[in-house]
Amino acid sequence: DLSNSSEEVLKGIVAITGKTPIFEKLDLREKESVRSFFKKHNDVSGVIHFAASKAVGESVGNPLLYYENNIASLIYLLQELSKQDKANFIFSSSCTVYGQAEEMPITEDAPVQKPMSPYGNTKKIGEEIISDVAKVTSVNAILLRYFNPVGAHPSAEIGELPIGVPQNLVPFITQTGSGVRQELSVFGDDYPTPDGTCIRDYIHVVDLAKAHVIALQRLLNGKNLEKIETFNLGTGTGSSVLEVINSFEKMSGKKLPYKIVPRREGDITEAYANTDKANDVLGWKAQSTLDEAMASKWEPILSSPI
Ligand code: WQD
Repeated sequence: DLSNSSEEVLKGIVAITGKTPIFEKLDLREKESVRSFFKKHNDVSGVIHFAASKAVGESVGNPLLYYENNIASLIYLLQELSKQDKANFIFSSSCTVYGQAEEMPITEDAPVQKPMSPYGNTKKIGEEIISDVAKVTSVNAILLRYFNPVGAHPSAEIGELPIGVPQNLVPFITQTGSGVRQELSVFGDDYPTPDGTCIRDYIHVVDLAKAHVIALQRLLNGKNLEKIETFNLGTGTGSSVLEVINSFEKMSGKKLPYKIVPRREGDITEAYANTDKANDVLGWKAQSTLDEAMASKWEPILSSPI
């Protein structure tokens, strides 16, 4: 629905792939729009569902936006897909379903707990809905539990371009580095971690994209071992907020202005992935390091004046 993007992205996709995707602007919260989409495009063999709001902090302040946008859109998509005699569905889920996991690195069979934010809860509920639907319909699904997606396509043609003040760490860092924002606020340095700041598993968005292609091909080729399969998508390495700042400073050669402020509601201390299942079963492994991801985010900004 372009609420947090723009049609310019299509030009970037054409520049990268040489192919012009069919684009239909619609709001997945409108049941009739979803229904008419599938009437018009009755040859859809697979769906990758990314369309959700995804900022932990924002979801705490505006839970209904998240429950409506993330759950209603999923239900309307599944209603259409379950009418097909075979439906392949890739779901963008999240490590937030683990809440604060007991053990690190986190495996796919770590207990799913009540996530610490409405955003994470919409992903937990979404996974449960998909599981219930797959049991009684033709839907085959792969749940991809993202850790922290960062970076941009190396061509600089497409990348994260949050509309308004960025909620996530890395876009806020790059906007601070390019002078759009004055100073980064680090939400707490009193966590039980080596440097006191929270640890996350920052995965390059291109690595993430490649995992989606592999997952969809797995379903299209009938290689899935169960109707629902779950994979953690991370690098397997945890990085603290201060380490991410250091990485940016190393990659950009710039000092980043920041200050320590109180903790943000809904944040967990630590999350990074055990990547064995994605490596061994899905046949996918993240290739980019945090520094490479940061460089991919920063270089385009250097080359294109803000
Ligand atoms: C990361 C760390 C903040 C902003 C993300 C996505 C969510 C899901 C899980 C995919 C935290 C700190 C942040 C700032 C800061 N991914 N921070 N100052 O909350 O881990 O969730 O990963 O589905 O969609 O949002 O990511 O980037 O908001 O925060 O200190 O200005 O950076 O406290 O420790 P988060 P984030």
